[in-house]
Amino acid sequence: MTNKIKELADLFENHLYEYFGEYLQEYKLIFESMEYSVKNGGKRVRPLLTMLFCDACGGDVKTALPMAQAVEFIHTYSLIHDDLPCMDNDDYRRGKPSNHKVYGEAFALLAGDGLLTAAFELISKGCIDGLYDSATAISGVSALSALAGSRGMIGGQVIDLLNENNPNADFENLQLMDSLKTGALIEAACVLGCIVADADEEKLNAARCFAQNIGLAFQIKDDVLDVTSSLEKLGKMTGSDTQNGKSTYVTLLGVEKCQALVERLTDEAMASLEAFDNNGALKAYAEYLAHRES
Ligand code: IPE
Ligand code: IPE
Ligand code: MG
Ligand code: MG
Ligand code: MG
Repeated sequence: MTNKIKELADLFENHLYEYFGEYLQEYKLIFESMEYSVKNGGKRVRPLLTMLFCDACGGDVKTALPMAQAVEFIHTYSLIHDDLPCMDNDDYRRGKPSNHKVYGEAFALLAGDGLLTAAFELISKGCIDGLYDSATAISGVSALSALAGSRGMIGGQVIDLLNENNPNADFENLQLMDSLKTGALIEAACVLGCIVADADEEKLNAARCFAQNIGLAFQIKDDVLDVTSSLEKLGKMTGSDTQNGKSTYVTLLGVEKCQALVERLTDEAMASLEAFDNNGALKAYAEYLAHRES
Protein backbone atom coordinates (compact mmCIF):
# COMPACT_ATOMS: atom_id res chain seq x y z
CA MET A 1 0.00 0.00 0.00
CA THR A 2 1.12 3.54 -0.67
CA ASN A 3 2.50 5.98 1.93
CA LYS A 4 -0.61 8.10 1.44
CA ILE A 5 -2.84 5.19 2.53
CA LYS A 6 -0.68 4.49 5.60
CA GLU A 7 -0.72 8.17 6.51
CA LEU A 8 -4.53 8.35 6.24
CA ALA A 9 -4.94 5.10 8.18
CA ASP A 10 -2.83 6.52 11.06
CA LEU A 11 -4.70 9.81 11.03
CA PHE A 12 -8.01 7.98 11.21
CA GLU A 13 -6.94 5.52 13.92
CA ASN A 14 -5.71 8.34 16.19
CA HIS A 15 -8.95 10.24 15.69
CA LEU A 16 -11.27 7.26 16.11
CA TYR A 17 -10.86 6.78 19.85
CA GLU A 18 -11.57 10.41 20.82
CA TYR A 19 -15.26 9.60 21.17
CA PHE A 20 -14.62 7.34 24.14
CA GLY A 21 -13.46 10.08 26.49
CA GLU A 22 -16.06 11.10 29.04
CA TYR A 23 -19.01 9.21 30.45
CA LEU A 24 -20.71 8.53 33.78
CA GLN A 25 -19.54 5.50 35.73
CA GLU A 26 -23.18 4.44 36.09
CA TYR A 27 -23.37 3.50 32.39
CA LYS A 28 -19.71 2.88 31.66
CA LEU A 29 -20.53 -0.68 30.58
CA ILE A 30 -22.06 0.54 27.32
CA PHE A 31 -18.90 2.51 26.49
CA GLU A 32 -16.70 -0.46 27.33
CA SER A 33 -18.81 -2.64 25.08
CA MET A 34 -18.73 -0.13 22.19
CA GLU A 35 -14.98 0.43 22.57
CA TYR A 36 -14.31 -3.30 22.67
CA SER A 37 -15.67 -3.76 19.16
CA VAL A 38 -14.35 -0.51 17.66
CA LYS A 39 -10.78 -0.54 18.98
CA ASN A 40 -7.82 -2.52 17.71
CA GLY A 41 -9.45 -4.30 14.89
CA GLY A 42 -10.89 -4.00 11.47
CA LYS A 43 -9.26 -3.09 8.19
CA ARG A 44 -10.97 0.33 8.24
CA VAL A 45 -11.86 -0.09 4.57
CA ARG A 46 -14.85 2.27 4.61
CA PRO A 47 -13.27 5.22 6.48
CA LEU A 48 -10.20 4.94 4.26
CA LEU A 49 -12.44 5.16 1.19
CA THR A 50 -14.10 8.29 2.64
CA MET A 51 -10.73 9.93 3.16
CA LEU A 52 -9.31 8.78 -0.17
CA PHE A 53 -12.29 10.16 -2.08
CA CYS A 54 -12.08 13.44 -0.18
CA ASP A 55 -8.40 13.64 -1.11
CA ALA A 56 -9.07 12.67 -4.75
CA CYS A 57 -11.61 15.52 -4.96
CA GLY A 58 -9.05 18.01 -3.66
CA GLY A 59 -10.56 18.29 -0.15
CA ASP A 60 -8.80 18.55 3.22
CA VAL A 61 -8.84 15.03 4.70
CA LYS A 62 -9.14 16.38 8.25
CA THR A 63 -12.63 17.65 7.43
CA ALA A 64 -13.57 14.12 6.36
CA LEU A 65 -12.73 12.57 9.75
CA PRO A 66 -16.22 12.84 11.36
CA MET A 67 -17.84 11.35 8.26
CA ALA A 68 -15.25 8.56 8.11
CA GLN A 69 -15.75 7.83 11.80
CA ALA A 70 -19.54 7.80 11.39
CA VAL A 71 -19.29 5.19 8.62
CA GLU A 72 -16.94 3.00 10.68
CA PHE A 73 -19.28 3.22 13.71
CA ILE A 74 -22.26 2.14 11.60
CA HIS A 75 -20.21 -0.67 10.08
CA THR A 76 -19.12 -1.83 13.56
CA TYR A 77 -22.69 -1.77 14.86
CA SER A 78 -23.76 -3.88 11.86
CA LEU A 79 -21.05 -6.44 12.69
CA ILE A 80 -22.03 -6.64 16.38
CA HIS A 81 -25.66 -7.30 15.42
CA ASP A 82 -24.68 -9.60 12.51
CA ASP A 83 -22.84 -11.87 14.97
CA LEU A 84 -25.75 -12.22 17.43
CA PRO A 85 -27.25 -15.71 17.88
CA CYS A 86 -30.49 -14.54 16.22
CA MET A 87 -28.48 -13.49 13.11
CA ASP A 88 -25.29 -15.36 12.04
CA ASN A 89 -24.44 -16.65 15.52
CA ASP A 90 -20.68 -16.09 15.19
CA ASP A 91 -18.37 -16.29 18.20
CA TYR A 92 -15.30 -14.44 16.82
CA ARG A 93 -14.88 -11.02 15.27
CA ARG A 94 -11.78 -8.98 14.54
CA GLY A 95 -9.53 -11.58 16.14
CA LYS A 96 -11.35 -11.79 19.48
CA PRO A 97 -14.59 -13.13 20.94
CA SER A 98 -17.66 -11.41 19.49
CA ASN A 99 -19.21 -8.60 21.50
CA HIS A 100 -22.10 -10.71 22.85
CA LYS A 101 -19.68 -13.45 24.00
CA VAL A 102 -18.04 -10.88 26.30
CA TYR A 103 -20.83 -8.50 27.27
CA GLY A 104 -23.92 -10.64 26.71
CA GLU A 105 -26.67 -10.17 24.15
CA ALA A 106 -28.40 -7.22 25.79
CA PHE A 107 -25.26 -5.09 25.96
CA ALA A 108 -24.21 -6.14 22.46
CA LEU A 109 -27.57 -4.95 21.22
CA LEU A 110 -27.17 -1.65 23.08
CA ALA A 111 -23.56 -1.20 21.89
CA GLY A 112 -24.90 -1.42 18.33
CA ASP A 113 -27.63 1.10 19.15
CA GLY A 114 -25.04 3.41 20.73
CA LEU A 115 -22.70 3.29 17.72
CA LEU A 116 -25.52 3.83 15.23
CA THR A 117 -26.76 6.91 17.10
CA ALA A 118 -23.23 8.26 17.61
CA ALA A 119 -22.68 8.29 13.84
CA PHE A 120 -25.21 11.07 13.37
CA GLU A 121 -24.04 12.90 16.48
CA LEU A 122 -20.52 12.96 15.01
CA ILE A 123 -21.54 14.30 11.59
CA SER A 124 -23.62 17.05 13.23
CA LYS A 125 -20.80 17.92 15.61
CA GLY A 126 -18.37 18.31 12.71
CA CYS A 127 -20.59 21.10 11.43
CA ILE A 128 -20.98 22.73 14.87
CA ASP A 129 -17.17 22.61 15.23
CA GLY A 130 -16.84 24.50 11.92
CA LEU A 131 -15.29 21.75 9.79
CA TYR A 132 -18.03 22.10 7.12
CA ASP A 133 -21.27 23.99 6.62
CA SER A 134 -24.77 22.83 7.51
CA ALA A 135 -25.67 21.97 3.89
CA THR A 136 -22.73 19.55 3.80
CA ALA A 137 -23.76 18.01 7.13
CA ILE A 138 -27.35 17.51 5.94
CA SER A 139 -26.18 15.97 2.66
CA GLY A 140 -23.94 13.60 4.64
CA VAL A 141 -26.69 12.60 7.08
CA SER A 142 -29.16 12.14 4.23
CA ALA A 143 -26.83 9.88 2.20
CA LEU A 144 -25.66 7.84 5.19
CA SER A 145 -29.08 7.30 6.75
CA ALA A 146 -30.61 6.25 3.41
CA LEU A 147 -27.79 3.87 2.44
CA ALA A 148 -27.46 2.29 5.91
CA GLY A 149 -31.22 2.09 6.40
CA SER A 150 -34.04 -0.27 5.51
CA ARG A 151 -33.81 0.50 1.78
CA GLY A 152 -30.03 -0.02 1.99
CA MET A 153 -27.83 -2.13 4.29
CA ILE A 154 -30.68 -3.33 6.52
CA GLY A 155 -32.75 -4.34 3.49
CA GLY A 156 -29.77 -6.43 2.33
CA GLN A 157 -29.50 -8.13 5.72
CA VAL A 158 -33.19 -9.01 5.46
CA ILE A 159 -32.68 -10.66 2.05
CA ASP A 160 -29.66 -12.52 3.50
CA LEU A 161 -31.75 -13.99 6.32
CA LEU A 162 -34.69 -14.84 4.04
CA ASN A 163 -32.29 -16.68 1.70
CA GLU A 164 -30.97 -19.05 4.37
CA ASN A 165 -31.42 -22.63 3.19
CA ASN A 166 -32.89 -21.45 -0.10
CA PRO A 167 -31.46 -23.62 -2.91
CA ASN A 168 -33.35 -21.52 -5.49
CA ALA A 169 -31.65 -18.18 -4.82
CA ASP A 170 -30.67 -16.75 -8.21
CA PHE A 171 -28.05 -14.26 -9.41
CA GLU A 172 -30.35 -11.28 -9.48
CA ASN A 173 -31.47 -11.88 -5.94
CA LEU A 174 -27.90 -12.44 -4.68
CA GLN A 175 -26.67 -9.35 -6.49
CA LEU A 176 -29.40 -7.26 -4.88
CA MET A 177 -28.58 -8.77 -1.48
CA ASP A 178 -24.83 -8.11 -1.72
CA SER A 179 -25.24 -4.67 -3.27
CA LEU A 180 -27.44 -3.70 -0.35
CA LYS A 181 -25.96 -5.45 2.68
CA THR A 182 -22.37 -4.49 1.81
CA GLY A 183 -22.37 -2.26 -1.29
CA ALA A 184 -24.69 0.36 0.19
CA LEU A 185 -22.46 1.28 3.14
CA ILE A 186 -19.38 1.26 0.90
CA GLU A 187 -21.27 3.62 -1.40
CA ALA A 188 -22.03 5.86 1.59
CA ALA A 189 -18.33 5.87 2.48
CA CYS A 190 -17.27 6.96 -1.02
CA VAL A 191 -20.07 9.51 -1.47
CA LEU A 192 -19.42 11.12 1.93
CA GLY A 193 -15.80 11.73 0.96
CA CYS A 194 -16.97 13.54 -2.17
CA ILE A 195 -19.67 15.51 -0.33
CA VAL A 196 -17.26 16.86 2.27
CA ALA A 197 -14.91 17.98 -0.53
CA ASP A 198 -17.79 19.76 -2.34
CA ALA A 199 -17.41 17.57 -5.43
CA ASP A 200 -19.58 18.12 -8.51
CA GLU A 201 -22.31 15.75 -9.75
CA GLU A 202 -19.99 14.05 -12.26
CA LYS A 203 -17.55 13.04 -9.52
CA LEU A 204 -20.40 11.93 -7.23
CA ASN A 205 -21.78 9.69 -9.95
CA ALA A 206 -18.33 8.25 -10.65
CA ALA A 207 -17.86 7.54 -6.92
CA ARG A 208 -21.27 5.78 -6.83
CA CYS A 209 -20.34 3.65 -9.83
CA PHE A 210 -16.95 2.77 -8.29
CA ALA A 211 -18.65 1.86 -5.00
CA GLN A 212 -21.30 -0.36 -6.55
CA ASN A 213 -18.67 -2.44 -8.33
CA ILE A 214 -16.13 -2.53 -5.52
CA GLY A 215 -18.88 -3.19 -2.94
CA LEU A 216 -20.20 -6.21 -4.77
CA ALA A 217 -16.63 -7.46 -5.30
CA PHE A 218 -15.95 -6.96 -1.59
CA GLN A 219 -18.83 -9.19 -0.48
CA ILE A 220 -18.02 -11.88 -3.07
CA LYS A 221 -14.43 -11.86 -1.77
CA ASP A 222 -15.76 -12.10 1.80
CA ASP A 223 -17.77 -15.17 0.80
CA VAL A 224 -14.70 -16.72 -0.89
CA LEU A 225 -12.56 -16.14 2.21
CA ASP A 226 -15.26 -17.80 4.33
CA VAL A 227 -14.45 -20.96 2.37
CA THR A 228 -10.70 -20.63 1.74
CA SER A 229 -9.21 -18.80 4.75
CA SER A 230 -8.75 -19.50 8.47
CA LEU A 231 -9.70 -17.99 11.83
CA GLU A 232 -6.04 -16.96 12.35
CA LYS A 233 -5.87 -15.02 9.08
CA LEU A 234 -9.40 -13.65 9.04
CA GLY A 235 -10.06 -12.97 12.72
CA LYS A 236 -13.50 -14.55 12.37
CA MET A 237 -14.75 -18.12 12.00
CA THR A 238 -14.59 -19.62 8.52
CA GLY A 239 -17.24 -22.02 7.30
CA SER A 240 -19.87 -19.80 8.89
CA ASP A 241 -21.90 -19.37 5.68
CA THR A 242 -22.06 -23.13 5.05
CA GLN A 243 -23.04 -23.78 8.64
CA ASN A 244 -25.86 -21.22 8.40
CA GLY A 245 -27.06 -22.50 5.02
CA LYS A 246 -26.34 -19.09 3.42
CA SER A 247 -26.91 -18.55 -0.28
CA THR A 248 -23.87 -16.79 -1.77
CA TYR A 249 -22.10 -16.36 -5.10
CA VAL A 250 -19.75 -19.12 -3.93
CA THR A 251 -22.58 -21.63 -3.56
CA LEU A 252 -23.75 -20.67 -7.04
CA LEU A 253 -20.42 -20.30 -8.95
CA GLY A 254 -17.63 -21.89 -6.92
CA VAL A 255 -14.46 -20.19 -5.67
CA GLU A 256 -12.51 -19.83 -8.94
CA LYS A 257 -15.25 -18.16 -10.92
CA CYS A 258 -15.92 -15.89 -7.96
CA GLN A 259 -12.29 -14.64 -7.91
CA ALA A 260 -12.51 -13.98 -11.67
CA LEU A 261 -15.70 -12.01 -11.06
CA VAL A 262 -13.99 -10.01 -8.31
CA GLU A 263 -11.24 -9.09 -10.82
CA ARG A 264 -13.77 -8.05 -13.46
CA LEU A 265 -15.77 -5.92 -11.03
CA THR A 266 -12.54 -4.32 -9.79
CA ASP A 267 -11.57 -3.43 -13.37
CA GLU A 268 -14.96 -1.81 -13.86
CA ALA A 269 -14.55 0.10 -10.61
CA MET A 270 -11.08 1.27 -11.72
CA ALA A 271 -12.52 2.74 -14.91
CA SER A 272 -14.76 5.06 -12.84
CA LEU A 273 -11.68 6.48 -11.13
CA GLU A 274 -10.69 8.26 -14.36
CA ALA A 275 -13.11 11.01 -13.29
CA PHE A 276 -10.59 11.97 -10.59
CA ASP A 277 -7.23 13.68 -11.29
CA ASN A 278 -5.64 12.58 -8.05
CA ASN A 279 -6.54 8.87 -8.25
CA GLY A 280 -3.23 7.00 -7.64
CA ALA A 281 -3.88 5.99 -4.02
CA LEU A 282 -7.49 4.99 -4.78
CA LYS A 283 -6.35 2.73 -7.60
CA ALA A 284 -3.73 1.10 -5.36
CA TYR A 285 -6.36 0.57 -2.68
CA ALA A 286 -8.88 -0.99 -5.09
CA GLU A 287 -6.14 -3.37 -6.22
CA TYR A 288 -5.33 -4.30 -2.62
CA LEU A 289 -9.02 -5.03 -1.92
CA ALA A 290 -9.31 -7.41 -4.87
CA HIS A 291 -6.36 -9.48 -3.62
CA ARG A 292 -6.80 -9.15 0.14
CA GLU A 293 -6.27 -12.25 2.25
CA SER A 294 -8.24 -11.04 5.27
C1 IPE B 1 -16.99 -7.59 7.03
O1 IPE B 1 -16.46 -6.36 6.68
C2 IPE B 1 -18.45 -7.61 6.74
C3 IPE B 1 -18.81 -7.35 5.36
C4 IPE B 1 -19.63 -6.41 5.04
C5 IPE B 1 -18.28 -8.20 4.29
P1 IPE B 1 -14.89 -6.10 6.77
O2 IPE B 1 -14.16 -7.22 6.09
O3 IPE B 1 -14.61 -4.72 6.27
O4 IPE B 1 -14.64 -6.20 8.33
P2 IPE B 1 -13.56 -5.44 9.25
O5 IPE B 1 -14.06 -4.04 9.42
O6 IPE B 1 -12.22 -5.50 8.58
O7 IPE B 1 -13.60 -6.18 10.57
C1 IPE C 1 -22.22 -8.89 6.70
O1 IPE C 1 -22.15 -9.94 5.83
C2 IPE C 1 -22.99 -7.72 6.18
C3 IPE C 1 -23.27 -6.77 7.26
C4 IPE C 1 -22.80 -6.86 8.47
C5 IPE C 1 -24.14 -5.65 6.96
P1 IPE C 1 -21.50 -11.28 6.46
O2 IPE C 1 -22.40 -11.89 7.45
O3 IPE C 1 -21.00 -12.11 5.33
O4 IPE C 1 -20.23 -10.65 7.22
P2 IPE C 1 -19.21 -11.51 8.08
O5 IPE C 1 -18.65 -12.58 7.17
O6 IPE C 1 -19.96 -12.05 9.25
O7 IPE C 1 -18.14 -10.52 8.46
MG1 MG D 1 -24.44 -11.92 7.85
MG1 MG E 1 -21.88 -12.71 9.38
MG1 MG F 1 -19.19 -13.24 5.45
